[in-house]
Amino acid sequence: MRGKEESMKLLHIIATPRGKKSRTLKVSDTLLERVTKELPGAQVETLELFSADLPELNVQRVEGKYTLMSGGTLQGEVQKQVDAVQAVGKKFLEADMYLISTPMWNFGIPYKLKHYIDLIVQPGITFQYGKNGPEGLVKGKRMVVVTSRGGDYSSGPMKDFDQVGPYLKTVFGFIGIKDLVFIDAQPMDAAGEEGRNKAIAAAQEAVSKLPLGQPAQV
Ligand SMILES: Cc1cc2nc3c(=O)[nH]c(=O)nc-3n(C[C@H](O)[C@H](O)[C@H](O)COP(=O)(O)O)c2cc1C
Repeated sequence: MRGKEESMKLLHIIATPRGKKSRTLKVSDTLLERVTKELPGAQVETLELFSADLPELNVQRVEGKYTLMSGGTLQGEVQKQVDAVQAVGKKFLEADMYLISTPMWNFGIPYKLKHYIDLIVQPGITFQYGKNGPEGLVKGKRMVVVTSRGGDYSSGPMKDFDQVGPYLKTVFGFIGIKDLVFIDAQPMDAAGEEGRNKAIAAAQEAVSKLPLGQPAQV
């Protein structure tokens, strides 16, 4: 067990372009510090979505997805084009654990994260059609999603405006990730610097209590 944890691969997917200024990353850094300390053999790979060269979903790649979803096979140029998309999904699958760092943008996720999700949710890679309909293929992996929002959407009338948590839970659940924990830092802008610092500290405290290592087998 321990051997596996020590060689764990963590993929950190960063969906903010703000680098050192990012509030979200201040919270994620607390988790990464714990990984370094508690799982010394763990390998951390970082994917900066705002500087990554992600393939576009052009017409051939989209048509390829329809062909695969209807049980067909790909050939020639379409296969070549789809290979570039599938490579992103296969790379995603190499990780044992995921950390997503994302702010809220216009009540949802930044477009670069949506682009990445549209690339990795592919038939035969992260899901397939079985007897009972679609079935996720990403099994036995843990995901931590660190978010930050300018306002506070945790309760009250603003709760229904939040399209970050519900969407990510749905889409990653669809591909099989059930062990998914959210750490939300909020409000980052609406309550001034004091409110922001307090919310970041609370989120860091929540991170310090998260279980690391083997995911729950769900
Ligand atoms: C393009 C853009 C859209 C945003 N939309 C929202 C929003 O809809 N609701 C909200 O509460 N905050 C919104 N914010 C504020 C960010 O969610 C907030 O400042 C967050 O802490 C930024 O995280 P970061 O520092 O890690 O990039 C937006 C910020 C930007 C740049």
